[in-house]
Amino acid sequence: MLIKRPPYGIDPPSSSEITPREVYEGRRIFLRQAAIGAVATSGLLNLSPASAAAQKLPAKPNPAYLPADKPTAYKDATGYNNFYEFGTDKSDPARHAASLITRPWTLSIEGEVKKPFILDIDALLKLAPLEERLYRLRCVEGWSMAIPWIGYPLSELIKKAEPTGNARFVEFTSLADRKQMPGLGSSVLDWPYVEGLRLDEANHPLTLLTLGMYGEVLPNQNGAPVRIVVPWKYGFKSAKSIVRIRFTRNQPRTAWNLSAPREYGFYSNVNPEVDHPRWSQATERRIGEDSFFSRKRKTLMFNGYGEVASLYAGMNLKRFY
Ligand code: MTE
Repeated sequence: MLIKRPPYGIDPPSSSEITPREVYEGRRIFLRQAAIGAVATSGLLNLSPASAAAQKLPAKPNPAYLPADKPTAYKDATGYNNFYEFGTDKSDPARHAASLITRPWTLSIEGEVKKPFILDIDALLKLAPLEERLYRLRCVEGWSMAIPWIGYPLSELIKKAEPTGNARFVEFTSLADRKQMPGLGSSVLDWPYVEGLRLDEANHPLTLLTLGMYGEVLPNQNGAPVRIVVPWKYGFKSAKSIVRIRFTRNQPRTAWNLSAPREYGFYSNVNPEVDHPRWSQATERRIGEDSFFSRKRKTLMFNGYGEVASLYAGMNLKRFY
C-alpha cells in the first residue's frame, strides 16, 4: 500500500553511539547522584576535538528540572533534527546549517507591550541568570529526546516588556533569509516559520528562552543563537533561531497550523489520548535508546509535565488539540 508521505518525514533513527560530550554526561551523573545523596563516580573526562572547539556557555544546573531520564547523546541531539529552513531530512540541518550567521543577531520585542525593545544577542545572554534544565522534547512524529538546555524563563523577558492589558498571545518568528537558509526555496511551509503561545503559557516557569545546550551555545541546527523550548508541547511549538517576539490580542496564525490545520492545532499539547489524524500519539521512541524493534515507551500527558494542567482547566483538549 502506498502511504502518503506526511509533511513531517518519518526517518529511521540514527544509531546510538558513545556520546562525544563525555564531560557533560559525567557531570550529569554526578549531579543526579549528588541529588540522591549517593557517592559520585565519574572517570568520563575525555575531551573530544569537537567539544574543545565549541563555545562554552556556563549555567547553573537547576535541580528542580532534573528528571530521571538519561540525556540523549549529543551526536543524536545535533544530528537528528527538524529545521525545515535547512531541508526536510533529519540529517539536513546538521549538513547545511553552517551557513547560518548568528552574529550580529537581534531579537525584537514588539506589539502589545508598554516597552518594546530590540535586544542584541549578547545582551540577551545577560538578561537573566542562565540555568541548565534537562527537558524532554517529544516530536509529533513519535520520537523523543532528553536534552540539557541552557536558558532562562521567558517570563524574565516578558516582565521587561510589560505587556499591555490587550496582550493575550505571544507570537515567535524565526529568521527567514534565503541567502543563509537553502530550505526556504521549498514551499513545504509558508515562511517565515511562526509559532505562538497563549500569554499564560509563555509566562509559565517551564517555558525556556533557550541559548545553549550540553554546556555550550546552541549549535546552528538546534536553533542558534536563540530559540524557545516548551517541554509539554510537541516539538514544533519550540521555534528556532527567532528574531521577533510579538504580543498580540488575537491568536497568531502559526506555520504548521496554516499548512495542515486538521493535523496541527494551535495548542499542540503532548496528549496520548488525541491521535494525529494519520497515526497514534500513544507511544514514542527515545532517539538513541529505543530501536524500531524495542517496545515503545508510553507517551505521558503533557509529556510528563503535569504541573501545566491548571492552564487548561475546563478546556476540552480533544477540541483544542
Ligand atoms: N523551528 C523552525 N524555525 N523551523 C523548523 O522547522 N522544527 C520544529 C521545532 N522548531 C522547526 C523549528 C520541530 S518539528 C521540532 S521537532 C523541533 O524544532 C526540533 O528541535 P531539535 O532539532 O533541536 O530537536
